[in-house]
Amino acid sequence: MQIRPCGPLRGEITVPGDKSISHRAVMLAALANGTTHITGFLMGEDCLSTIDCFRKMGVSIEVGAQEVVVEGVGLHGLSAPADVLYTGNSGTTTRLLCGILAGQPFTATLSGDASICKRPMGRVIQPLREMGASIEGRSDNYCPLTLFPSELHGIEYHLPVASAQLKSAILLAGLYAEGQTTVIEPSPSRDHTERMFRSLGVEIETHGNTITLEPPEDLHAVDIAVPGDISSAAFFLVAGAIVPGSELTIKNVGINPTRTGILDALREMGADITVSALHDGTEPVCDLTVRHSALHGIEIGGSIIPRLIDELPVLAVAAAFAAGETVIRDAQELKVKESDRIAAMAAELARAGVDVEETDDGMIIRGGKTPSGASFETYKDHRIAMSLAVLALAAQGGSRIDDPEVVAISYPDFFDTLRRLGG
Ligand code: S3P
Repeated sequence: MQIRPCGPLRGEITVPGDKSISHRAVMLAALANGTTHITGFLMGEDCLSTIDCFRKMGVSIEVGAQEVVVEGVGLHGLSAPADVLYTGNSGTTTRLLCGILAGQPFTATLSGDASICKRPMGRVIQPLREMGASIEGRSDNYCPLTLFPSELHGIEYHLPVASAQLKSAILLAGLYAEGQTTVIEPSPSRDHTERMFRSLGVEIETHGNTITLEPPEDLHAVDIAVPGDISSAAFFLVAGAIVPGSELTIKNVGINPTRTGILDALREMGADITVSALHDGTEPVCDLTVRHSALHGIEIGGSIIPRLIDELPVLAVAAAFAAGETVIRDAQELKVKESDRIAAMAAELARAGVDVEETDDGMIIRGGKTPSGASFETYKDHRIAMSLAVLALAAQGGSRIDDPEVVAISYPDFFDTLRRLGG
């Protein structure tokens, strides 16, 4: 993919459905009693992996142009898969499925692509074993993972990392456990699982950072409207902020407060972002308008990090265009995403001539000098690819991006949308 610096980005777009919510919608619809119609579902490769895994366990899922229709089999209605459940590149599919599989009366094996096979699963294996699950993993930490039938009981568990995948895996196992399951987070991570549970009639309470689930008799199917993914909107928020003369509106974006760290950080950097048409359902949704403006560096760390963890690569791009120093700390989790996103962004920003320093838990970017176009590597990571594309739009000189097709993991139409806006 060749990208040249562009003139103002202007127009109105929608972004695809939220990835985290799309996964959960299929999973909970499969376990519910009744039929669920899901609109706004993300047709990205990761969410299609989730559909594929549930079909292999006997769930009928119809993918139409307007909606996905899931015929729920009930909490105890999944059947033994005849094959390995292949989760592709998707950490959410892999970890959340562990929680569900731990409570099944059959044996199942999970595995994914080269990236998934390098990502830590010990964090999920350990608490599930405490609940009574029987799990084997390569080196006790990696895929393939095999889960055997076992009886589960509720636990109280302090998460060692603020991870919604881990929290959700434990809560999903809690559906099948004897007694209450309590999870205590170090700081709040995305709470889509809790919200969806509530809307399906599960008794689940949140007090501060403590979440307690009472195992339900069953789940009642309810239709689910998936809002646009703020993590996908983030690429356009940064593009609009750094390309001179831009003004663009992204409609129907989910702004769950556990996900809006990117809005807080960009605004603190001086970005001009306005919220309109705010409405609330299971998840709050709004339209976001961004206009180009001068940015300056900031320091971020602590509890904002889980609220913008997936947006840090594109925030690093914003930092490259921002005057002064941006310091990102407490973001060591970035090293175990689809790629090591700290190493990847530090290397690629350096290729563009940006003054960047990689640290143990983040990076320091001294921005303000327009980055130059370069030949970029994506590390087969969708978010790295899209972040570098955004950089290339406002760089000096043309750029090339290897493997642009990796964007299909979360945003198959990304480049088309960019072109439509003038990119
Ligand atoms: C996700 C949680 C986050 C995030 C990922 C999606 C989820 O991962 O990075 O893209 O849907 O629960 P962690 O839970 O590992 O932080």
